[in-house]
Amino acid sequence: MDATQQSPLAVRIAVLSMLAASIVLAYSSGPPNGMSGRPGEGTCLACHSGSSGSPDSSNLLGLQPTGYTSDSLYTLNLTVNYAGQQRWGFELTAVDAAGSPVGQLVVLDPVNTQYDTSQVGGYQYIKHTSAGTFPGQAGQANWTIGWRAPAAGAGAVTFYWCCNAANNNNSNSGDTIIRDSLVVAEAAGIGSEPARGRFTWRYANPARNRAVISYQGNPDLLVRIYSAEGRLVRALHPSPDGERLQVDWDGRDDAGRTVPETRYFVRLGAEVTTVIQVQLVR
Ligand code: HEC
Repeated sequence: MDATQQSPLAVRIAVLSMLAASIVLAYSSGPPNGMSGRPGEGTCLACHSGSSGSPDSSNLLGLQPTGYTSDSLYTLNLTVNYAGQQRWGFELTAVDAAGSPVGQLVVLDPVNTQYDTSQVGGYQYIKHTSAGTFPGQAGQANWTIGWRAPAAGAGAVTFYWCCNAANNNNSNSGDTIIRDSLVVAEAAGIGSEPARGRFTWRYANPARNRAVISYQGNPDLLVRIYSAEGRLVRALHPSPDGERLQVDWDGRDDAGRTVPETRYFVRLGAEVTTVIQVQLVR
């Protein structure tokens, strides 16, 4: 090899090692896995100095106190509030009562959140992206996270997460680290038979502002739709759907008023006692 062949190679090696160095240092584009604060793993304090914030400054919203419904996809909202801070980050995982990974974390907002497939011990982690640190955003941040609940019988689930309320100095100093967790029970079916597979629901397209629920049960019993706060919104008589029953909810309450586009709980009579969650889409 003569000198003219060697020099491009040498240049390429130099560029590659610079890239490697910048990848290693770019923690703000996503912290390493295993820092969610789950018992037995670290928190962001492994590298970040500063203070620990109160768990009250962070919340995981979108799951009902009555519990999660198996096999449902939930849209969760992780919030963090911290006066004076102006850059943000998080990492979250979910485990069952035995401490094993449970359900499936889903990226619903790929701009601001990412799922790192290099799992540590089978655990799943969802966390911020570079854009999802919201540099300069004062006082608060929130991220949208999807979680598919496990099959029936998985029991209570604990979400562990660790947030960084950072000072936007592009370094790991002067930040406030908040560790928090939330235990959510599995919603109890009152009936003796597992309700799984006994109902289906879909949106009737193109009329998007309605939800159609098909199920097996007693035709004399009403289907009741509740708001997230537990208020009865609508009671409907089912109609036959082959061997099954069906209700077609037009997104109105009992007084005929259009209800907000949000999530509702549906109680399918007394025989099929599962409470399912539907998202009304307009
Ligand atoms: C292995 C060490 C390490 C761990 C663990 C770590 N970080 Fe960092 N983080 C850094 C370093 C170094 C920087 C500064 C360089 C940069 O911005 O990438 C940083 C920067 C940040 C910033 C920008 C800070 C600012 O003030 O501009 C955020 C936000 C952040 N990390 C969030 C997190 C969160 C959330 C966790 C925990 C889930 C975490 N980090 C865990 C090393 C780490």
